[in-house]
Amino acid sequence: MVKTNQLRRLGKTDLMVSPIGLGVMELSGGGGLIGRMFPVIAAEDKNAIIKAALDGGINFFDTAEMYGAGVSERSLADGLKAAGAADKDVIIETKWQPILRTANNIGKTIDDRLRYLGGYTISNYMIHQPLSFSSPEAEMDAMADLVDAGKIRSVGVSNFNPARMRRAHAALAKRGLPLVLNQVRYSLIHREIETNGILETAKELGVTIVAYTPLGSGLLTGKYHQHPELLEKKSGIRKSMLVGNVERTRPLINAMAEIAGRYDATIGQVALNWLIHFNGDMVVTIPGATKVYQAQESAAAMNFTLSAEELARLSEISGQLK
Ligand SMILES: NC(=O)c1ccc[n+]([C@@H]2O[C@H](COP(=O)([O-])OP(=O)(O)OC[C@H]3O[C@@H](n4cnc5c(N)ncnc54)[C@H](OP(=O)(O)O)[C@@H]3O)[C@@H](O)[C@H]2O)c1
Repeated sequence: MVKTNQLRRLGKTDLMVSPIGLGVMELSGGGGLIGRMFPVIAAEDKNAIIKAALDGGINFFDTAEMYGAGVSERSLADGLKAAGAADKDVIIETKWQPILRTANNIGKTIDDRLRYLGGYTISNYMIHQPLSFSSPEAEMDAMADLVDAGKIRSVGVSNFNPARMRRAHAALAKRGLPLVLNQVRYSLIHREIETNGILETAKELGVTIVAYTPLGSGLLTGKYHQHPELLEKKSGIRKSMLVGNVERTRPLINAMAEIAGRYDATIGQVALNWLIHFNGDMVVTIPGATKVYQAQESAAAMNFTLSAEELARLSEISGQLK
């Protein structure tokens, strides 16, 4: 069940989310380019993953057009329906795919998104990444039209640098809307946003950071350190993100394991807990899951709080990794 005292506001809106959500890119297996990266998971297993997230207190779900061209969105809606989740009790964000398209396409494809989401509201609609034939101003105008038409509740961006965030923010302000969030890669092993201006700009503009790949694709659970043979089962981009990083990150994983022991937690839970507390309330995160126990573990990472000393120690060790 959602713990209401833990909910966090998304940007300058009244949308309240659990600090840990669930990313459902993993449920896109079988469709499109991204879908090919993931195995096809049986419908009942997908439903069980979503139910485990809800039962663990997650109310925030991230999907995208790119994730299997509707497969992930439909899987999410099916899972929420199977679990009996009411629309008012969940916050869903999805994303428009901008590559080789113009902003004109935003209004043309929104009804597909709504159809795949089967009646669930799009609480936040993002531009998935900056590569597009249109300017951010034109994109934000098209997004604002969707808010005015009642098709989405708010607007976000993903993978936008500080300059582009500012342009999106200014364009939305002209339409009386806030830029709500920037979804970017952020974890104990990917801390670029702390130095490239994204975190600072988000703070200044009142934009929430939604951290993706928070577990470093599984690396930050420590499973590849404990069982390197698991890497053999991985392939493609996901394998290349892991190989070569296991030994490099071992000092961090060792420190995380020691801290995890103090809370009867797992290493992965420490990784997620660090993310949602290191920068106060402005970072929330959306770990992915391919199995029920993973969604359960991610949700339960909201049940403890690392001390200021532990947050700082992990920051320091992660900063020293070669
Ligand atoms: N906006 C963007 O451009 C963008 C880009 C990437 C991702 N995202 C979003 O962010 C979400 C999460 O990112 P991500 O999937 O790239 O990375 P992640 O959350 O760092 O890693 C998720 C993977 O880690 C493994 N895992 C999760 N919990 C575990 C546990 N308790 N124990 C052991 N292994 C565990 C699972 O993989 P295995 O079971 O296969 O090992 C799972 O698929 C995605 O679902 C998507 O919604 C957005």
